[in-house]
Amino acid sequence: MIKYIEETVNYLLEKGFENPELGIILGTGLGQLINEIEIIKEASYNHIPNFPTATVEFHKGKLIYGILEGKKVVVMQGRFHVYEGYTLQDVTYPVRIMEKLGIKALLVSNAAGAINLNFKKGELMLIDDHINLQGSSPLAFRGVELLGERFTDMSMPYDEETNRTFQSIAKKNNIVLHKGVYASVVGPQLETRAEYRMLKLIGADAVGMSTVPEIIVANHLKLKVAAVSVLTDECDPDNLEPINIEDIIANASKAEPDMITLFKELIKTL
Ligand code: HPA
Repeated sequence: MIKYIEETVNYLLEKGFENPELGIILGTGLGQLINEIEIIKEASYNHIPNFPTATVEFHKGKLIYGILEGKKVVVMQGRFHVYEGYTLQDVTYPVRIMEKLGIKALLVSNAAGAINLNFKKGELMLIDDHINLQGSSPLAFRGVELLGERFTDMSMPYDEETNRTFQSIAKKNNIVLHKGVYASVVGPQLETRAEYRMLKLIGADAVGMSTVPEIIVANHLKLKVAAVSVLTDECDPDNLEPINIEDIIANASKAEPDMITLFKELIKTL
C-alpha cells in the first residue's frame, strides 16, 4: 500500500494540493459547505491514481483543495461506502492520502437515524463515541503495522477539546446539538424493528452507514477527529413507518445551515 499511497500523493502534489492543515469529509447535510470554500484546485476521484473508483465504478466525487476561514483545507466531496461494493481499505484510502498531504485534523459529517427518541429529526448530534458494526476493521490487513500501530488505541477516538468547542459554538448560535454514540452498519437496507431495538439496547443513540471506518484510520494515523451527524429519521421500533428517502433528504437539507455554521465557526478556532 505504501507504494500506491506515494503515487497518489505525488499526483496531488503536482496538481498543487500543498500543505493542507485540515481534512473535511462532506457527507449528507454538509454538501453546501463547498460554496463557502475558495477553491484552488480540484481532482475527480476517477482521475486520481489508485483511488478506489478505478477498480469499481464511476464515482462523481471530487477531492477539493482550497481556503476556508483562512485555513488551507482538503475536502472530500462525496465519500465511499462499503454498501457500494468497496472494501474497508478502499473506503479509508483517502484519509491516508489526506494525512500524507499534511492534515493534522479531520472533520466529518454524515446522516443518521435517531435511536435515542429524545432526539428529533432535523436536529444535530455530535459523535462522542462509536460502535463498529461493519463486520471487520479497516486495519485488518497484512502490513498495517508499516503505516501505524496495529493495536490502535480507541479509548478516546473523538477529540474532547474540539467537541467542547463545537458545543459552545452551538450554544452561542442557538443550535440544538445533542451528544451521543453513533453505530455504523453496512446497509444499504435500513434496519428492522428488531435491529433498532438491539441498537438501543447496546447503547447507540444514532445509526448510519459511514464514518466509523474513516475515524478508525484517522486514529491509526493519530489525527485529531470530530464528527457531526444530522438526524434524518426517528427509529422508533414500536411506531416504525416505511422509509421515505425524500423525507430523509429534506430533513438533512433543513439542518444544513446549522451544520455549516458549526463547521465554519469551529474552523476559525483551529
Ligand atoms: N439507519 C441507517 N442509516 C441511516 C438511517 C437509519 O435509520 N437514517 C439515515 N441513515
